[in-house]
Amino acid sequence: MLKKFSLFFHPIEIDLSFTPFALRLNNETYQVMKASDENIADLLGLEQEVYFGRTPWSRFSFKSELKKHANSLYLVVYQGSTLVGFVGMRMQAQEGHITNIAVKPTYQRRGIGEFLLRTMIGIAQKNRAVQMTLEVRSDNYNAQSLYRKLGFKDNFIRKNYYTTEQADAISMIKELTD
Ligand SMILES: CC(C)(COP(=O)(O)OP(=O)(O)OC[C@H]1O[C@@H](n2cnc3c(N)ncnc32)[C@H](O)[C@@H]1OP(=O)(O)O)[C@@H](O)C(=O)NCCC(=O)NCCS
Repeated sequence: MLKKFSLFFHPIEIDLSFTPFALRLNNETYQVMKASDENIADLLGLEQEVYFGRTPWSRFSFKSELKKHANSLYLVVYQGSTLVGFVGMRMQAQEGHITNIAVKPTYQRRGIGEFLLRTMIGIAQKNRAVQMTLEVRSDNYNAQSLYRKLGFKDNFIRKNYYTTEQADAISMIKELTD
């Protein structure tokens, strides 16, 4: 292939490597690392806590998402052996799509959700993403406040996106600039 054309056809390499580290936030210390199958029981437990006994993401969904090493990244935050938060992102083309984010109720309002989202935005930017997207229930005002604080804007409504609860989603977008 001619060199000048190979530039166009060369797929953008995505680097979702992540080095675990200790996070100091508001006088507390947490461990932040990439999620693995070993964390699935904790992820399901945290989901049940934040979604009143429901697990919108099943064991199977987590397992299959965690296998997609090439374009999917899940981060978990632990304090000791307690999972206190997690976030998931899928990179597609030049877009970082937040698939899931939750913080354990007793650890909410301590900056963990904001930290997780900012971390994913940073990783997407390093991978030359030009935008971030996500869906949020139209009545989930707490999560919307977090997203708006970090510059996400309403894009469009997905009617009945959450089919079991017959709830609409707002599709939100944040343009990434240098
Ligand atoms: C949404 C969620 C992840 C936020 O996590 P968190 O760690 O509590 O958020 P933070 O402490 O980092 O808050 C950052 C900002 O988000 C907004 N925010 C978060 N929780 C809020 C609440 N209960 N009420 C109002 N604003 C809120 C605020 O703007 C806050 O900034 P501030 O503290 O300077 O006011 C958490 O509430 C959660 O897990 N909810 C249940 C699961 C969920 O709804 N996930 C999103 C699915 S789309």
